[in-house]
Amino acid sequence: MTKIIDFKEGITEEINNAGKALKEGKLVIFPTETVYGIGANALDSKACENIFVAKGRASDNPLIVHISNINQIDSLVTNINPVEQRLIDTFMPGPFTLILKKKDVIPSIVSANLDTVGIRMPDNKIAHDLIEAAGVPIAAPSANLSGKPSGTRIEDIKKEFEGKVEYIIDGGESKVGLESTVVKVIDNIPTILRPGKITPEDIINAVGVCKIDDNIFRKATGVVESPGMKYKHYAPVNECLLIYFDDINKLAEEVNKNIKDKTVVIGYNELEDKINCYKYLKHGSINNYEEISHNIFKLLREVDKYNPDLIIIMGVKKVGLGIAIMNRLIRSASYNYIGE
Ligand code: TXA
Ligand code: MG
Repeated sequence: MTKIIDFKEGITEEINNAGKALKEGKLVIFPTETVYGIGANALDSKACENIFVAKGRASDNPLIVHISNINQIDSLVTNINPVEQRLIDTFMPGPFTLILKKKDVIPSIVSANLDTVGIRMPDNKIAHDLIEAAGVPIAAPSANLSGKPSGTRIEDIKKEFEGKVEYIIDGGESKVGLESTVVKVIDNIPTILRPGKITPEDIINAVGVCKIDDNIFRKATGVVESPGMKYKHYAPVNECLLIYFDDINKLAEEVNKNIKDKTVVIGYNELEDKINCYKYLKHGSINNYEEISHNIFKLLREVDKYNPDLIIIMGVKKVGLGIAIMNRLIRSASYNYIGE
């Protein structure tokens, strides 16, 4: 039986029970500042295997390991170079994951047989206190069945995991709403494998350079730096089309042109009156990318309840946080994209 713990109004001593369950090999869903995670003791292969089963996740897609204290890093990874150290000092805790050379304590199931592991230190009090209570690092992918939008509130993911995990901790809606920026330092250059709230500009400000992996906006095939790039992701049940033009009038016009009978549009607050559709869901104000990133996964789940013949999503400009939003939306739409 899954126990739901409500920490929306504050953390209680029940956190110790959830921590103990994790340490003993059980699964716990918990909030972070990015999205919810489904966690297990990262040093326990059997427990981590259960994450793959619960999510229906491909075994070649590695898990990232969450810590509560910078001092834990040295016990998990080795050969940290000065660029990596600077990234750690600048972005941890925060919505940031750094791929580092793993030590043998990290089971091969966690790293999917790679010699590296992603390390992340969430900036969220519940996540922090839970990892402390567990007393072990926590392996945690996003809490969603594989292929579905990541969970940003308990209501959206409860059904997917009830009976499969020991505890679900409710911490309210995730602040950021998109998963962490995943970075690997290759030949001394930080390379973004998955964009997020920490932007290329933030990384350039910290270490002077930053590259973005070629597969951010396209479907990856063959050998890739990050296995997650290859898989179907963030997708609603129904067919989806992403449209974006800088010119707002042209954007509205293109959206209207593509609307069918029972089309739901997910778009800007300001454009509702310009669009003629079955149902309009607002993702945020024009240029407010924080608001859009916060809302988008919730809306990609809500939209299915209308059983639309088509979902049209208005995109954003691929700058700053917009890079991360478009990386997710292009995958939600299975690369079905009109625009610039
Ligand atoms: O914000 C987040 O990162 C959330 C919260 C729960 O912390 N977690 C999350 O985990 O999004 P997940 O498993 O859904 O996504 C991790 C991504 C995957 O695309 C995976 O392929 C990639 O990171 N990854 C993990 N370990 C890697 C490694 N050693 N090398 C390259 N890519 C790796
Ligand atoms: Mg995920």
